[in-house]
Amino acid sequence: FSLKPFNTFGVDVSAQYFTQASSIEELKDAIQFSRSQSLPLLILGGGSNILLTKNFEGLAVQLGLRGISEENIDENTVLVTAKAGENWHEFVMYCLKKNYGGLENLSLIPGNVGTSPMQNIGAYGTEIKDIFVNCSVLNLETLETEQFDLEKCRFGYRDSIFKQEAKGKYIILDVTFRLTKKDHHIKTEYGAIQSELKNAGIENPTIQDISRAVISIRQSKLPDPKKMGNAGSFFKNPTIPLAQFEDLQQKFENIQGYPNGNNVKVPAGWLIEQCGWKGKQIGNAASHKLQSLVIVNATGNATGKEIYDFSTEIINSVKNKFGIELEREVNII
Ligand code: EPU
Repeated sequence: FSLKPFNTFGVDVSAQYFTQASSIEELKDAIQFSRSQSLPLLILGGGSNILLTKNFEGLAVQLGLRGISEENIDENTVLVTAKAGENWHEFVMYCLKKNYGGLENLSLIPGNVGTSPMQNIGAYGTEIKDIFVNCSVLNLETLETEQFDLEKCRFGYRDSIFKQEAKGKYIILDVTFRLTKKDHHIKTEYGAIQSELKNAGIENPTIQDISRAVISIRQSKLPDPKKMGNAGSFFKNPTIPLAQFEDLQQKFENIQGYPNGNNVKVPAGWLIEQCGWKGKQIGNAASHKLQSLVIVNATGNATGKEIYDFSTEIINSVKNKFGIELEREVNII
């Protein structure tokens, strides 16, 4: 069974077995089947943060749980719960239509709601931890449902407990966010948002204006996975000690960095571009011409291994030039 339609890189690998689960019961049945046959399990959400490097000898399950519900808390607060299989951007648009604030800076991020807590998705000054209340998960060992609140998720930059000690132990079933109904927190700190609003002549932006600005920025430099396979940023932005950053400043006076305590976060896209990778293609894999942090399936025919090897070359050359070891953000299967 080809997994090509189920990963945004558009890599053509196959799974020995495949099923779609649109209810918790169907999900449990699939898990029990995999156990009875001793098959490894691969849970697929929107497929937007994975790189499949070989055929999967096991059962791939695509999570199709759908539905959105709301609970009014007070005149300014609503809790909105979306099931794991809801498309992220459609969910953001649903909330904006109702004038619920909090998700607008996260417009147009590929993927589904269920995978959003995994890597604490973030963009343009917001991370989901800012509005996250809790998520329901299925414990793969007990097949019981549990709740993970904000603290238990241990969110960090592109990180959570689901990428650390809870990895592979739970399936996220739904996620609840705390959103505002009228006193919205408009976040415009990010330079690109400010220039976008200025160009549009908007002085007092609404949450819908912020969303439109974010969509326009993303469309201007991030490739649409439907047109060219990719998984967004392929690497994390590395954090290095201040002393190391100051040494690098001596050698590379244009180096950019965002101070964070005794550390500095350096944009990986800049490091990669400086190594000459921007827009460069090897075989079917390339670094995107407008944002070098994004690796693309340039011809549509790239294999997962080709993309993986391409990313290794980038890691090696950044390491050689800057002494910084880039870490992959995308899950390698
Ligand atoms: N830059 C370059 N060359 C490049 C790309 C970027 O010099 O090829 C420089 C830019 O000039 C800018 C800086 O790097 O000064 C940062 O670039 P940008 O604002 O595009 O953001 P980013 O750090 O590359 C991160 C997230 C994105 C998110 C944006 C906006 C990570 C790994 N990536 O990218 O998230 O949309 O900020 O907030 O943190 C994703 O995770 O898939 C993703 C797209």
